[in-house]
Amino acid sequence: MNEQHLEPLKRHPEGRALRAEVDLGRIARNLGRVRAAAGGREIWAVVKANAYGHGAVPVGRALAAAGAHGLAVSSLEEGLELRQGSIECPILVLGGLRPEALAAASAEGLTIALVGPEHLDDYARILPHHPVRLHLKLDTGMGRFGLLPSELGACLPQLERLAPWIEGAMGHFATADDPDQGFALRQRKVFDACLSQLSDAGIHPPQRHHGNSDACLRGLLDQDTHVRPGLALYGLTTLPEGRTLGLEPALELVAEVARVKAVSAGATVGYGRTFVAPHPLQIATLACGYADGYRRDLGNRAVVGFRGRTFPVVGRVSMDYLTVALPLDLPVAPGDPMILYSGDPATAHSLERLAQSLGTIPYELTCALHRRITRRFFPN
Ligand SMILES: Cc1ncc(COP(=O)(O)O)c(C=O)c1O
Repeated sequence: MNEQHLEPLKRHPEGRALRAEVDLGRIARNLGRVRAAAGGREIWAVVKANAYGHGAVPVGRALAAAGAHGLAVSSLEEGLELRQGSIECPILVLGGLRPEALAAASAEGLTIALVGPEHLDDYARILPHHPVRLHLKLDTGMGRFGLLPSELGACLPQLERLAPWIEGAMGHFATADDPDQGFALRQRKVFDACLSQLSDAGIHPPQRHHGNSDACLRGLLDQDTHVRPGLALYGLTTLPEGRTLGLEPALELVAEVARVKAVSAGATVGYGRTFVAPHPLQIATLACGYADGYRRDLGNRAVVGFRGRTFPVVGRVSMDYLTVALPLDLPVAPGDPMILYSGDPATAHSLERLAQSLGTIPYELTCALHRRITRRFFPN
Protein backbone atom coordinates (compact mmCIF):
# COMPACT_ATOMS: atom_id res chain seq x y z
CA MET A 1 0.00 0.00 0.00
CA ASN A 2 1.31 3.42 -0.92
CA GLU A 3 2.18 5.58 2.03
CA GLN A 4 0.67 9.01 1.94
CA HIS A 5 3.30 11.73 2.17
CA LEU A 6 1.97 14.85 3.74
CA GLU A 7 3.61 18.19 3.55
CA PRO A 8 4.53 19.50 6.99
CA LEU A 9 1.81 21.73 8.35
CA LYS A 10 2.43 25.38 7.59
CA ARG A 11 2.33 27.79 10.44
CA HIS A 12 1.80 31.50 10.28
CA PRO A 13 4.42 33.02 12.52
CA GLU A 14 2.20 35.89 13.64
CA GLY A 15 -1.08 33.98 13.77
CA ARG A 16 -4.23 36.04 13.98
CA ALA A 17 -3.82 39.63 14.97
CA LEU A 18 -5.51 39.11 18.30
CA ARG A 19 -3.61 38.75 21.51
CA ALA A 20 -4.11 38.75 25.25
CA GLU A 21 -1.18 40.57 26.81
CA VAL A 22 -0.62 39.32 30.32
CA ASP A 23 1.63 41.17 32.74
CA LEU A 24 3.12 38.57 35.06
CA GLY A 25 4.76 41.29 37.13
CA ARG A 26 1.32 42.63 38.02
CA ILE A 27 0.16 39.16 38.99
CA ALA A 28 3.19 38.72 41.26
CA ARG A 29 2.56 42.11 42.88
CA ASN A 30 -1.12 41.28 43.35
CA LEU A 31 -0.08 38.11 45.16
CA GLY A 32 1.90 40.23 47.62
CA ARG A 33 -1.05 42.58 48.14
CA VAL A 34 -3.51 39.74 48.72
CA ARG A 35 -1.09 38.08 51.12
CA ALA A 36 -0.81 41.33 53.08
CA ALA A 37 -4.62 41.69 53.15
CA ALA A 38 -4.79 38.08 54.38
CA GLY A 39 -2.48 38.84 57.30
CA GLY A 40 0.46 37.00 55.75
CA ARG A 41 -1.37 33.67 55.45
CA GLU A 42 -0.03 31.15 52.95
CA ILE A 43 -1.66 31.19 49.53
CA TRP A 44 -3.15 28.48 47.41
CA ALA A 45 -3.30 30.52 44.20
CA VAL A 46 -6.29 29.52 42.10
CA VAL A 47 -5.31 29.00 38.46
CA LYS A 48 -8.18 26.84 37.28
CA ALA A 49 -9.83 27.45 33.90
CA ASN A 50 -6.49 28.30 32.29
CA ALA A 51 -5.75 30.76 35.10
CA TYR A 52 -9.12 32.45 34.55
CA GLY A 53 -8.19 32.69 30.87
CA HIS A 54 -4.79 34.27 31.47
CA GLY A 55 -2.69 31.16 30.67
CA ALA A 56 -2.24 28.47 33.32
CA VAL A 57 1.39 27.47 32.93
CA PRO A 58 3.11 30.89 32.66
CA VAL A 59 0.83 32.35 35.33
CA GLY A 60 1.32 29.30 37.57
CA ARG A 61 5.09 29.57 37.22
CA ALA A 62 5.00 33.29 38.04
CA LEU A 63 2.84 32.72 41.12
CA ALA A 64 5.02 29.87 42.38
CA ALA A 65 8.13 32.02 41.86
CA ALA A 66 6.44 34.89 43.71
CA GLY A 67 5.95 32.68 46.76
CA ALA A 68 2.54 31.06 46.46
CA HIS A 69 2.42 28.00 48.68
CA GLY A 70 0.69 26.07 45.89
CA LEU A 71 -1.68 26.26 42.94
CA ALA A 72 -5.32 25.20 42.90
CA VAL A 73 -7.02 23.80 39.81
CA SER A 74 -10.39 22.26 39.09
CA SER A 75 -9.56 18.91 37.53
CA LEU A 76 -6.90 16.24 37.20
CA GLU A 77 -6.27 17.37 33.61
CA GLU A 78 -5.58 20.92 34.73
CA GLY A 79 -3.17 19.63 37.37
CA LEU A 80 -1.35 17.49 34.81
CA GLU A 81 -1.05 20.47 32.46
CA LEU A 82 0.83 22.36 35.17
CA ARG A 83 3.11 19.40 35.90
CA GLN A 84 3.82 19.06 32.17
CA GLY A 85 4.79 22.72 32.30
CA SER A 86 7.50 21.76 34.85
CA ILE A 87 5.71 23.32 37.80
CA GLU A 88 6.83 21.53 40.94
CA CYS A 89 4.98 23.26 43.79
CA PRO A 90 1.96 21.65 45.49
CA ILE A 91 -1.11 21.47 43.24
CA LEU A 92 -4.56 21.05 44.76
CA VAL A 93 -7.34 19.56 42.62
CA LEU A 94 -10.44 21.32 43.97
CA GLY A 95 -13.03 19.28 42.11
CA GLY A 96 -12.13 15.94 43.68
CA LEU A 97 -11.13 12.75 41.94
CA ARG A 98 -12.64 9.36 41.21
CA PRO A 99 -10.71 6.56 42.91
CA GLU A 100 -9.61 5.12 39.54
CA ALA A 101 -7.57 8.27 38.92
CA LEU A 102 -5.71 8.20 42.24
CA ALA A 103 -2.69 6.35 40.82
CA ALA A 104 -2.19 9.04 38.16
CA ALA A 105 -2.58 11.82 40.73
CA SER A 106 -0.13 10.10 43.07
CA ALA A 107 2.45 9.67 40.32
CA GLU A 108 2.34 13.42 39.69
CA GLY A 109 2.31 14.38 43.36
CA LEU A 110 -1.08 16.09 43.20
CA THR A 111 -3.08 17.01 46.29
CA ILE A 112 -6.76 16.12 46.12
CA ALA A 113 -9.85 17.67 47.66
CA LEU A 114 -12.05 14.98 49.17
CA VAL A 115 -15.44 16.30 48.14
CA GLY A 116 -18.02 13.80 49.38
CA PRO A 117 -18.73 10.65 51.34
CA GLU A 118 -19.01 8.38 48.27
CA HIS A 119 -15.55 6.93 47.86
CA LEU A 120 -14.02 7.00 51.32
CA ASP A 121 -13.53 3.21 51.52
CA ASP A 122 -11.97 3.10 48.05
CA TYR A 123 -9.60 5.89 49.01
CA ALA A 124 -8.58 4.06 52.20
CA ARG A 125 -7.87 0.93 50.14
CA ILE A 126 -5.88 2.70 47.40
CA LEU A 127 -3.93 5.39 49.27
CA PRO A 128 -1.43 3.04 50.99
CA HIS A 129 -0.30 2.06 47.47
CA HIS A 130 -0.77 5.41 45.72
CA PRO A 131 -0.46 8.10 48.37
CA VAL A 132 -1.79 11.61 47.82
CA ARG A 133 -2.32 14.44 50.27
CA LEU A 134 -5.99 15.11 50.94
CA HIS A 135 -7.93 18.27 51.77
CA LEU A 136 -11.28 17.46 53.29
CA LYS A 137 -13.96 19.68 51.80
CA LEU A 138 -16.79 20.59 54.15
CA ASP A 139 -20.08 21.93 52.84
CA THR A 140 -20.55 24.79 55.28
CA GLY A 141 -23.26 26.45 53.19
CA MET A 142 -22.22 26.62 49.54
CA GLY A 143 -24.35 23.59 48.78
CA ARG A 144 -22.14 22.08 46.09
CA PHE A 145 -19.16 19.94 47.04
CA GLY A 146 -18.15 18.79 50.47
CA LEU A 147 -19.27 16.67 53.37
CA LEU A 148 -22.34 18.12 55.05
CA PRO A 149 -22.02 18.63 58.79
CA SER A 150 -24.88 16.13 59.13
CA GLU A 151 -22.80 13.51 57.28
CA LEU A 152 -19.58 14.08 59.14
CA GLY A 153 -20.35 11.99 62.25
CA ALA A 154 -21.17 8.89 60.22
CA CYS A 155 -18.00 9.31 58.15
CA LEU A 156 -15.60 9.72 61.07
CA PRO A 157 -14.50 6.05 61.23
CA GLN A 158 -13.54 6.16 57.54
CA LEU A 159 -11.89 9.56 57.94
CA GLU A 160 -9.82 8.20 60.84
CA ARG A 161 -8.41 5.61 58.44
CA LEU A 162 -7.60 8.40 56.00
CA ALA A 163 -6.12 10.66 58.70
CA PRO A 164 -2.45 10.04 57.76
CA TRP A 165 -3.12 11.61 54.37
CA ILE A 166 -5.40 14.46 55.48
CA GLU A 167 -3.34 17.63 55.20
CA GLY A 168 -6.13 20.17 55.07
CA ALA A 169 -9.76 21.02 55.76
CA MET A 170 -11.55 23.50 53.56
CA GLY A 171 -14.87 25.25 52.97
CA HIS A 172 -16.04 27.87 50.49
CA PHE A 173 -18.00 31.07 51.07
CA ALA A 174 -21.24 31.63 49.16
CA THR A 175 -21.58 35.34 49.98
CA ALA A 176 -18.13 36.77 50.78
CA ASP A 177 -18.94 39.74 48.50
CA ASP A 178 -22.17 40.59 50.33
CA PRO A 179 -21.97 43.64 52.64
CA ASP A 180 -24.26 41.71 54.98
CA GLN A 181 -21.82 39.23 56.48
CA GLY A 182 -24.50 37.25 58.34
CA PHE A 183 -24.39 34.13 56.18
CA ALA A 184 -20.59 34.17 55.82
CA LEU A 185 -20.20 34.30 59.59
CA ARG A 186 -22.64 31.41 59.93
CA GLN A 187 -20.51 29.42 57.47
CA ARG A 188 -17.46 30.14 59.63
CA LYS A 189 -19.28 28.80 62.69
CA VAL A 190 -20.23 25.63 60.84
CA PHE A 191 -16.59 25.24 59.73
CA ASP A 192 -15.37 25.64 63.31
CA ALA A 193 -17.89 23.09 64.57
CA CYS A 194 -16.76 20.59 61.93
CA LEU A 195 -13.10 21.17 62.83
CA SER A 196 -13.91 20.51 66.53
CA GLN A 197 -15.71 17.31 65.60
CA LEU A 198 -12.68 16.20 63.59
CA SER A 199 -10.35 17.19 66.40
CA ASP A 200 -12.38 15.13 68.91
CA ALA A 201 -11.84 12.16 66.60
CA GLY A 202 -8.08 12.79 66.62
CA ILE A 203 -7.99 14.35 63.13
CA HIS A 204 -6.09 17.64 63.13
CA PRO A 205 -5.62 18.93 59.57
CA PRO A 206 -2.61 21.24 59.70
CA GLN A 207 -4.04 23.43 56.94
CA ARG A 208 -7.41 25.17 57.19
CA HIS A 209 -8.79 27.39 54.44
CA HIS A 210 -12.22 28.81 53.73
CA GLY A 211 -11.43 32.12 52.04
CA ASN A 212 -11.52 33.22 48.41
CA SER A 213 -10.45 36.68 47.18
CA ASP A 214 -13.39 38.55 48.65
CA ALA A 215 -12.95 36.84 52.02
CA CYS A 216 -9.33 38.07 52.04
CA LEU A 217 -10.44 41.60 51.22
CA ARG A 218 -13.24 41.50 53.79
CA GLY A 219 -11.20 39.89 56.59
CA LEU A 220 -13.32 36.76 56.94
CA LEU A 221 -10.37 34.53 57.71
CA ASP A 222 -10.50 33.81 61.43
CA GLN A 223 -8.21 30.87 62.38
CA ASP A 224 -7.39 29.87 58.79
CA THR A 225 -3.79 29.04 57.98
CA HIS A 226 -4.19 29.43 54.20
CA VAL A 227 -6.37 31.31 51.70
CA ARG A 228 -7.49 30.44 48.17
CA PRO A 229 -7.73 33.64 46.12
CA GLY A 230 -8.25 33.62 42.38
CA LEU A 231 -9.81 36.76 40.93
CA ALA A 232 -7.81 39.21 43.04
CA LEU A 233 -4.52 37.76 41.78
CA TYR A 234 -5.56 38.80 38.29
CA GLY A 235 -6.19 42.31 39.61
CA LEU A 236 -9.92 42.03 39.14
CA THR A 237 -12.45 42.50 41.84
CA THR A 238 -16.09 43.14 42.35
CA LEU A 239 -15.42 44.94 45.65
CA PRO A 240 -14.23 48.54 46.22
CA GLU A 241 -11.71 47.12 48.74
CA GLY A 242 -9.80 45.63 45.81
CA ARG A 243 -9.09 49.04 44.31
CA THR A 244 -8.09 50.43 47.70
CA LEU A 245 -5.61 47.60 47.97
CA GLY A 246 -4.10 48.69 44.64
CA LEU A 247 -4.81 45.47 42.73
CA GLU A 248 -3.64 45.81 39.14
CA PRO A 249 -5.56 44.11 36.30
CA ALA A 250 -3.06 41.90 34.51
CA LEU A 251 -4.66 41.34 31.14
CA GLU A 252 -5.33 43.45 28.10
CA LEU A 253 -7.06 42.11 25.01
CA VAL A 254 -5.63 43.72 21.91
CA ALA A 255 -6.81 43.32 18.31
CA GLU A 256 -5.17 44.79 15.27
CA VAL A 257 -7.32 46.55 12.70
CA ALA A 258 -7.84 44.18 9.78
CA ARG A 259 -9.63 46.57 7.43
CA VAL A 260 -10.83 50.16 7.42
CA LYS A 261 -13.44 51.67 5.17
CA ALA A 262 -15.26 54.97 4.90
CA VAL A 263 -19.06 54.70 4.80
CA SER A 264 -21.71 57.27 4.09
CA ALA A 265 -24.69 58.27 6.20
CA GLY A 266 -27.36 55.56 6.13
CA ALA A 267 -24.92 52.69 5.50
CA THR A 268 -25.55 49.63 7.67
CA VAL A 269 -23.00 47.37 9.30
CA GLY A 270 -23.10 43.65 10.10
CA TYR A 271 -25.70 40.91 10.54
CA GLY A 272 -29.23 42.17 11.03
CA ARG A 273 -28.21 45.72 10.03
CA THR A 274 -28.47 46.79 13.67
CA PHE A 275 -26.22 49.80 13.13
CA VAL A 276 -27.03 52.56 10.68
CA ALA A 277 -24.32 55.20 10.22
CA PRO A 278 -25.85 58.50 11.37
CA HIS A 279 -23.29 60.44 9.31
CA PRO A 280 -20.20 59.61 7.22
CA LEU A 281 -17.62 57.74 9.28
CA GLN A 282 -14.97 55.04 9.17
CA ILE A 283 -15.61 51.43 10.10
CA ALA A 284 -12.63 49.42 11.36
CA THR A 285 -13.03 45.63 11.30
CA LEU A 286 -11.10 43.69 13.96
CA ALA A 287 -10.49 39.95 13.90
CA CYS A 288 -12.14 39.18 17.22
CA GLY A 289 -15.56 37.65 17.67
CA TYR A 290 -17.69 35.57 19.94
CA ALA A 291 -15.66 32.46 19.02
CA ASP A 292 -12.77 34.19 20.80
CA GLY A 293 -14.93 34.82 23.86
CA TYR A 294 -15.85 38.42 23.07
CA ARG A 295 -19.52 38.38 23.88
CA ARG A 296 -22.06 38.91 21.14
CA ASP A 297 -24.09 41.23 23.34
CA LEU A 298 -21.18 43.69 23.50
CA GLY A 299 -22.17 44.80 19.98
CA ASN A 300 -23.73 48.30 20.06
CA ARG A 301 -22.80 48.41 23.77
CA ALA A 302 -19.03 48.31 24.36
CA VAL A 303 -16.23 50.69 23.46
CA VAL A 304 -12.62 49.98 22.50
CA GLY A 305 -9.54 52.05 23.25
CA PHE A 306 -7.54 53.66 20.46
CA ARG A 307 -5.05 56.54 20.56
CA GLY A 308 -6.04 57.39 24.15
CA ARG A 309 -9.76 57.68 23.35
CA THR A 310 -12.64 55.26 23.18
CA PHE A 311 -14.82 54.41 20.19
CA PRO A 312 -18.02 52.35 19.99
CA VAL A 313 -18.33 48.75 18.87
CA VAL A 314 -21.15 49.02 16.35
CA GLY A 315 -23.38 46.38 14.79
CA ARG A 316 -23.49 42.76 15.89
CA VAL A 317 -20.37 40.98 17.02
CA SER A 318 -20.02 37.97 14.72
CA MET A 319 -18.10 34.72 15.16
CA ASP A 320 -14.70 36.09 14.13
CA TYR A 321 -15.12 39.82 13.72
CA LEU A 322 -16.35 42.99 15.29
CA THR A 323 -16.66 46.50 13.91
CA VAL A 324 -15.77 49.86 15.42
CA ALA A 325 -16.98 53.31 14.31
CA LEU A 326 -14.42 56.11 14.09
CA PRO A 327 -14.59 59.71 12.84
CA LEU A 328 -13.57 60.24 9.24
CA ASP A 329 -10.67 62.51 10.13
CA LEU A 330 -8.98 60.07 12.54
CA PRO A 331 -5.87 58.42 11.09
CA VAL A 332 -6.35 54.66 11.32
CA ALA A 333 -4.83 51.88 9.23
CA PRO A 334 -4.70 48.08 9.05
CA GLY A 335 -2.35 46.79 11.74
CA ASP A 336 -3.17 49.51 14.26
CA PRO A 337 -3.80 47.98 17.68
CA MET A 338 -7.07 48.61 19.49
CA ILE A 339 -7.67 47.68 23.10
CA LEU A 340 -10.79 45.62 23.65
CA TYR A 341 -10.24 44.88 27.35
CA SER A 342 -8.23 47.52 29.13
CA GLY A 343 -5.90 46.96 32.08
CA ASP A 344 -6.92 50.31 33.54
CA PRO A 345 -9.89 49.79 35.87
CA ALA A 346 -10.99 53.42 35.44
CA THR A 347 -11.74 53.01 31.73
CA ALA A 348 -15.12 52.17 30.20
CA HIS A 349 -13.60 49.10 28.53
CA SER A 350 -12.09 47.63 31.70
CA LEU A 351 -13.19 44.07 32.36
CA GLU A 352 -15.06 45.13 35.47
CA ARG A 353 -17.03 47.86 33.68
CA LEU A 354 -17.81 45.68 30.66
CA ALA A 355 -18.92 42.82 32.91
CA GLN A 356 -21.11 45.22 34.85
CA SER A 357 -22.70 46.51 31.64
CA LEU A 358 -23.53 42.92 30.70
CA GLY A 359 -24.92 42.08 34.13
CA THR A 360 -22.20 39.53 34.74
CA ILE A 361 -18.87 39.22 36.57
CA PRO A 362 -15.32 39.68 35.21
CA TYR A 363 -14.62 35.96 35.74
CA GLU A 364 -16.99 35.07 32.94
CA LEU A 365 -15.29 37.37 30.44
CA THR A 366 -11.70 36.28 31.12
CA CYS A 367 -12.51 32.58 31.42
CA ALA A 368 -14.23 32.76 28.03
CA LEU A 369 -11.06 33.93 26.25
CA HIS A 370 -10.49 31.13 23.77
CA ARG A 371 -7.24 29.23 23.59
CA ARG A 372 -6.89 30.28 19.92
CA ILE A 373 -6.06 33.79 21.15
CA THR A 374 -2.30 34.29 21.27
CA ARG A 375 -1.15 35.02 24.83
CA ARG A 376 1.90 37.21 25.25
CA PHE A 377 3.49 37.33 28.66
CA PHE A 378 5.45 40.22 30.17
CA PRO A 379 8.05 39.97 31.56
CA ASN A 380 8.95 36.72 29.79
C1 LIG B 1 -13.26 26.12 45.69
C2 LIG B 1 -12.79 27.48 45.25
N1 LIG B 1 -11.86 28.13 45.97
C3 LIG B 1 -11.40 29.35 45.64
C4 LIG B 1 -11.87 29.98 44.50
C5 LIG B 1 -11.34 31.36 44.15
O1 LIG B 1 -12.36 32.30 44.20
P1 LIG B 1 -12.10 33.84 43.78
O2 LIG B 1 -11.70 33.82 42.35
O3 LIG B 1 -13.42 34.49 43.98
O4 LIG B 1 -11.04 34.34 44.68
C6 LIG B 1 -12.84 29.35 43.71
C7 LIG B 1 -13.34 30.05 42.51
O5 LIG B 1 -14.29 29.77 41.89
C8 LIG B 1 -13.31 28.06 44.09
O6 LIG B 1 -14.24 27.42 43.37
